[in-house]
Amino acid sequence: MDFGIKNRLSKIFSPKTGRTVMLAVDHGYFQGPTTGLRDMKNIIPLVPQADCLFVTRGILRTSIDPATKTSICLRVSGGPSILGELSNEDITTSMEEALRLNASGVGMSIFVGAKNEDRTISNLGRLINEAQRYGMPVLAITAVGKEMARDARYLGLACRMAAEIGANIVKTYYCEDFHKVAEGCPVPIVIAGGKKLPEMEALQMTEDAIRAGARGVDMGRNIFQSDSPAGMIKAVRAIVHKGATAREAFDLYHASKGESGGKRSSSAEAVDESMEKV
Ligand code: 5RP
Repeated sequence: MDFGIKNRLSKIFSPKTGRTVMLAVDHGYFQGPTTGLRDMKNIIPLVPQADCLFVTRGILRTSIDPATKTSICLRVSGGPSILGELSNEDITTSMEEALRLNASGVGMSIFVGAKNEDRTISNLGRLINEAQRYGMPVLAITAVGKEMARDARYLGLACRMAAEIGANIVKTYYCEDFHKVAEGCPVPIVIAGGKKLPEMEALQMTEDAIRAGARGVDMGRNIFQSDSPAGMIKAVRAIVHKGATAREAFDLYHASKGESGGKRSSSAEAVDESMEKV
């Protein structure tokens, strides 16, 4: 790898630990004003705690301080809303734009087993071809359609395909036998959190994923929909970067509860119906 891509990857994965805590706040690109992200001011106190922010260009421009030290991975795919066929995605943001916005990476979804599987895979190939020219790392997201099982066989297939096409990082979901998914994928895997879980369960999933070979998280709802988002991101960091157990991290989350910054508004108590589908 050339200097540029290595340098960008070092802004995503901590050079000290080789791991990353990415904060995913891109959900609005197909879900609209998602619970916890209705007012993007809610996530501002969390940004410095993340190694990397996974975000669309619209939110980056309107809501994120350009002086931030947190690196940016730009969501560059989109198209259908939660009301449509989710696999009908295309590339929505150019490489020139990603460079102008000083992104350290770009990310898009692939939908293996879904209606437009082949198109999303060829979109990934085209994105990587272009990204290679500029030393831009590509994160492939193995989005799971409504009918797909989130098991090691299916996720292992999707992750391996993404790596074979040339993705530098793969984001997928945690599942039983996750070590099989990690073993079959020759590039770093980060896990999405999925729908909101009780905090202890989300932290246990994080610990299990790291132990099974994940190189970090790209987590959204289990952080920004927590009753203490600041406490949750601190707890997730302790597991990912310091090797804390889920129990130790849970104690940290508890201790942080009530600290200022990032507390959810009362309107964010219920999980959106729409998000149950993702
Ligand atoms: C949506 C995404 C999200 O970034 C991803 O799902 C991570 O967020 P969460 O932890 O809420 O699942 O790529 O397609």
